[in-house]
Amino acid sequence: MGTDDDPGGPDGAPERTGHVAWILVGRAQVRGRLQPVEIAIDDDGIIAALGRDLRGGPRHDVGDSVILPAATDLHVHLREPGGPRDVETLASGTIQAALGGVGLVGDMPNTIPPVTDSDGVEEKARRVPGRAAVDVLLYALPVRPRALARLAETAGGFKVYLSPTTGVEEVPASVEVPGLLARLAELGLPVSVHAEDPSRFRTDLPDRGLADWNARRPAAAELAAVASLGEAPPSLRLHVAHVTTGTVADRLRAAGVSFEATPHHLLLSERSGDSSYRKVNPPLRSEADRAALWARFRRGEVPCLASDHAPHSLDTKDRPFDLAPSGMPGVETMLPLMLARVRASELELGTLVAAASDRPSRWVGQPRGRLAVGHRADLLVVDFRARTRLEARRLHAPCGWTAFEGWEAIFPREHYLRGERIVEDGQYIGRSVGEVVRPEYARSHPPARTRTGARP
Ligand code: NCD
Ligand code: ZN
Ligand code: ZN
Repeated sequence: MGTDDDPGGPDGAPERTGHVAWILVGRAQVRGRLQPVEIAIDDDGIIAALGRDLRGGPRHDVGDSVILPAATDLHVHLREPGGPRDVETLASGTIQAALGGVGLVGDMPNTIPPVTDSDGVEEKARRVPGRAAVDVLLYALPVRPRALARLAETAGGFKVYLSPTTGVEEVPASVEVPGLLARLAELGLPVSVHAEDPSRFRTDLPDRGLADWNARRPAAAELAAVASLGEAPPSLRLHVAHVTTGTVADRLRAAGVSFEATPHHLLLSERSGDSSYRKVNPPLRSEADRAALWARFRRGEVPCLASDHAPHSLDTKDRPFDLAPSGMPGVETMLPLMLARVRASELELGTLVAAASDRPSRWVGQPRGRLAVGHRADLLVVDFRARTRLEARRLHAPCGWTAFEGWEAIFPREHYLRGERIVEDGQYIGRSVGEVVRPEYARSHPPARTRTGARP
């Protein structure tokens, strides 16, 4: 994958002169090939040098295990504030991220109360120090026009819901959307859109299982919503959340718009049973849609992988299908599921790293997601022989279930955040050193980049 010529991110990092704190020795993919590599990490947790026979600090040799940049998951719901706290908290959600190899999460604003002004962002940000296991970017909901300018100085991104979904009842009328997007384009932050057009929902149809859910919120509603985004100003840093079909993926790719696909839409379909545990928005699609999305992901045509980690309690999911909430947990299992697909030779490692780490990090203006001098030493150590089968009781989601029970997975053995070990032997050992981050390009409010920055 030729990602090095992508103009969308913080490149041209300065030469590092800092003191080398330690050196990680193992194998890594360099120029498309797995080979022995040494990574020198400085006192600030930044990659100071990459090469062979490096000197200057103690060495940690992981043998033939593979070193990867940690993932950035642009789409999680940590449910804080408002809870319910037995389902998820900032602490429990970010520990799952750490164990799943995710070093930065984008936390969605559909909490109780929703994040609609800078007080809301600051209230969330205050919870992070000492409690977050990994870094957090905070999205805000642009519902109050007068709050937008200050929000753009405190939030890490905006989330626009074009249709109701869990925790979101009010959405802008379709006539208001172009004006909203034009205003957001001026503010420069990345904007993630939940793209379903509710006027295409078929609420008259039955609601008893996954195929019904797919018929009620059809792919046509997603396509119509994406088509309506075609009028957005080209300077808007537009990203479409949880894309489910090849048709929508092709359209966004042709327009140079960033988007993400989730493991559940890539691996599961409406045929995976009628359990409300797999009820999600947008719905799981037909097996043909799933296969088409997966084919594009394998070809490197899906810019970003994101979990849409959206836990709900066993109690609420156990309700009859029509009464159960939509959403499933996934931040702990996203990368491990895909690493198992790499091991099974169904996916190339470089394609996965580009979608899970490099592009999402660039998208939110973070110097991480690649093994490169000047990038943060947010690193994973993966032993591809260490295959396991997912079991909810051995995962760390307080909600206590996974839609991927029994699926093959490979968990990172070690995870480093800014050069500091937070996972050892697959166990979380961190000190909750996660921080709130914002896009580096937002600091000085330069004009937004063109959308093609997202191009694979
Ligand atoms: C999400 C949730 O539960 O917060 N649910 C879902 O089905 N994906 C909201 C969302 O992302 O639409
Ligand atoms: Zn959504
Ligand atoms: Zn979501």
